[in-house]
Amino acid sequence: MLSRVSGARTLTPEIWGGAEQTTTGVNRLRALEREGRLPFPMVAVNDARCKFLFDNRYGTGQSALSSIMNNTNLTVCGKTVVVAGYGWCGRGIAERARGLAANVIVCEVDPVKAVEAVFDGYRVMPMDEAAREGDVFITATGCRDVITRRHFAVMRDGAVLANAGHFDVEVSVKDLWEIASEHRRVRGTVDQFTMADGRRLFLLGEGRLVNLAAGDGHPTEIIDLTMALQVLAVLHVKKNRGQLSNRVYNLPDGVDRMVASYKLASLGVKYDQLNRQQLEYLHVE
Ligand SMILES: NC(=O)c1ccc[n+]([C@@H]2O[C@H](COP(=O)([O-])OP(=O)(O)OC[C@H]3O[C@@H](n4cnc5c(N)ncnc54)[C@H](O)[C@@H]3O)[C@@H](O)[C@H]2O)c1
Repeated sequence: MLSRVSGARTLTPEIWGGAEQTTTGVNRLRALEREGRLPFPMVAVNDARCKFLFDNRYGTGQSALSSIMNNTNLTVCGKTVVVAGYGWCGRGIAERARGLAANVIVCEVDPVKAVEAVFDGYRVMPMDEAAREGDVFITATGCRDVITRRHFAVMRDGAVLANAGHFDVEVSVKDLWEIASEHRRVRGTVDQFTMADGRRLFLLGEGRLVNLAAGDGHPTEIIDLTMALQVLAVLHVKKNRGQLSNRVYNLPDGVDRMVASYKLASLGVKYDQLNRQQLEYLHVE
């Protein structure tokens, strides 16, 4: 983020533009744009289809689950996994957890996403209820205080807490430290917090992005799409230098199509092409 980069303000006049690949980062940039405080053009790489459909969904889905398994050495099958947030990351996490034979509960604040989760076959309920049922909790909301002390107060002994979303504020680490009567690091990045009644809650990766703080991050077969978009976004800024305003821009759809076609070529996958008649037919209206 701009404010965190030392000397960013003095560098601003030299900067032609930039590219942002995270959901939360793009949200912050759009807020700066609305307030008229964006100092240079930015490209919302996160909003490209070849980013969120793959990196957020499959990358976070797989790497969050694998880091939780590697850190805890617990089985997923038969466990109740509570996923907070049914956006692109949450969908991927829920799908992977179900694929590993977990019982998945989804918590959402957007009623449309909640309906989608219901129709995808998940149980949906507020966190206040899910907190009593979950064995493993995974947040992916970009929001703060999704799991707090009132939830910790009713969780099962042995519950595992992991955040795959934003910074270290989705699971209130502050609350955990305040209400725990004892803390012990039990292995690697697993912290055990013992409650006054003896229940133990296990926090992974200090509540930071579990797949990064306590794992290997996304598989390269996924992140290569994101990196390709990042490079193309920077080239887009360079090519259009002086013609872009201090706004957040989406990458042209052609860039998505190009990256996807290279990906398919690298996988040896062929796909159909529209012929001239079909093109004309589709573009008639
Ligand atoms: N771990 C990683 O490697 C990784 C990768 C990509 C994105 N992210 C981060 O994950 C977060 C989610 O990204 P996304 O692309 O899925 O975003 P998204 O906007 O598609 O989804 C977020 C969802 O969370 C819901 N939500 C918001 N506040 C909530 C709350 N308090 N309780 C329940 N649900 C709530 C929203 O309604 C939305 O459906 C962002 O912070 C993003 O930066 C992490």
